[in-house]
Amino acid sequence: MRMYDIIEKKRDGYVLTAEEINFFINGFSTGNIPDYQASALLMAIYLRGMTEDEIFNLTGAMIHSGEIFNLSSIPGIKFDKHSTGGVGDKTTLIVAPVAAACGVPIVKLSGKGLGHTGGTIDKLNSIPGFNSNLTIDQIISNVRKIGLSISTQTGNITPADKKVYALRDVTATSDCIPLIASSIMSKKIATGSDVIVLDVKTGSGALTKSIDDSIKLAKLMVGIGRKFSKKTVAFITEMDNPLGYSIGNSLEIIEAIETLKGRGPKDLLDISIVISSKILELAGKGNPEHCTDLAVNSIKNGTALNKFAELISIQGGNRDVIYDYSLFGESKLQHEVTSDATGYISSYNTKLIGIAAMILGAGRETEDSLIDNNAGIILKAKVGDFVTKGDTLATFYSDSENKLIESNSIFKKSILYSSEKPVIKPLIHSFID
Ligand code: URA
Repeated sequence: MRMYDIIEKKRDGYVLTAEEINFFINGFSTGNIPDYQASALLMAIYLRGMTEDEIFNLTGAMIHSGEIFNLSSIPGIKFDKHSTGGVGDKTTLIVAPVAAACGVPIVKLSGKGLGHTGGTIDKLNSIPGFNSNLTIDQIISNVRKIGLSISTQTGNITPADKKVYALRDVTATSDCIPLIASSIMSKKIATGSDVIVLDVKTGSGALTKSIDDSIKLAKLMVGIGRKFSKKTVAFITEMDNPLGYSIGNSLEIIEAIETLKGRGPKDLLDISIVISSKILELAGKGNPEHCTDLAVNSIKNGTALNKFAELISIQGGNRDVIYDYSLFGESKLQHEVTSDATGYISSYNTKLIGIAAMILGAGRETEDSLIDNNAGIILKAKVGDFVTKGDTLATFYSDSENKLIESNSIFKKSILYSSEKPVIKPLIHSFID
C-alpha cells in the first residue's frame, strides 16, 4: 500500500477502506508517513468529506493508536461529560459535583483551553495547590473514594489524534466535522466510561457556528459512540452569549462555586441542571422530574458544594477557597468598559469576547502561552439587556495596561445594539439520543 495512492483516491472522491485508514494512522503515528503527505490527505478529507464508515474506521484507528483505560474496578456505570467548548462555559464544574453528589461516578479527562475557548483544567489549576495531572491509578482510586475525578489527558491516550490535531491546526483543516467528531470521540471512548454526555455548543463562540452544523456534529458523535458500544447522548446548547457572567480561570471557579451555593446566574444554573438531570436519568436514578429534583436538591442541601470541596482536597488543592475567594489572589489592574450607545444589546460576537479574555491573559494564543489565573472579564450586561451610554458593560482584570487597551477595543467590536428588544434564543436547542 502507498500513501500516494490513498491521497489520490480521497482527492478523487472515493471511499477509503479500513485498511487504508489504518495504514495512514499507523504510518503517521510511527513517523513513516511525513507531515506533507498527511496534510495532503487531511485537505482531501476536508474537501471531499467522509462516509460514516470511514469516520468510524478513523476513530477506531486513533483509539487503538494508544492506551484504552479499563475502569471496571470502579463499581457502577461510569459517566463522562464533554463540551465542545465555548466562552464562560463552566458547566462541568457544576454538573460533575452534582452528579457525583447524587451517586453517579464521573471520570472526566479534560483538555486545556486554546484560542478563544477556555479549558476546565486551566480553571481548576487556578485553585492553589490543585493537581490536575493524575495517573490512571490515582484517577481510579479517587473515583472509588469520592465518585469524581477531573484531570488532564493522562498516559498514552490516542497519540495519533494528538499528532493529527496538531497538523490540522496549521493546515486549515480544523473545522472539518468528520475530523472533529472522530478526534473528540476517540479520546472519549479510549477513556473507558460507559456513558458519554455531550454538550455541543452552537453559535458565534462555538466550534460549530450554525445549528445545522452543530446537529450534524452531534449526530455523528452519538453514532460513533453507539458503534463503539457507549451509550452517547448530545445536547445542542447556545453559545451566542457567554455562559454566566465570568470569563477567565479563577473568575469562573468563583462563579461555579457561587452556583453550587445556589447563587449562580440563571443560564448557567439551568443548563447545568438539565445536563445533570439527564446524567441521573441515564444512571437509572428515576424519571426526568425526579432526577431534576435530585439535581436541584443537591445544590439546595449543599451536597454538591461539599463534593466539589472533596474534589479540591483529594487533588491537593486548598478547599478554603470555597469560603475565601481572596485565596485566589487578584489582578493588579481593573478596567471598566462602558457602553458607547443607548439601546438593547442585540448580539455579542462571543468569539471576540473570548479573544478579549485571552488577550487579558485568561487564555492561550498558542499551546505554549502562559495563563494568568486571575485575568479575565466579568460581564455586567448580556444579550437582551438595555443599557444607557456610559453604563458599565464589563470589568476587565489583567496585569498589563497594554492588554487592557487591546482587549477593550476587541470587546467593543463584539457588540451590536438595537432599539428593539431582541428575541432571546433558547439555551437548549435540541437533544439527540
Ligand atoms: N476538540 C478536539 O478534541 N478535537 C477537535 O477536532 C476539536 C475540538
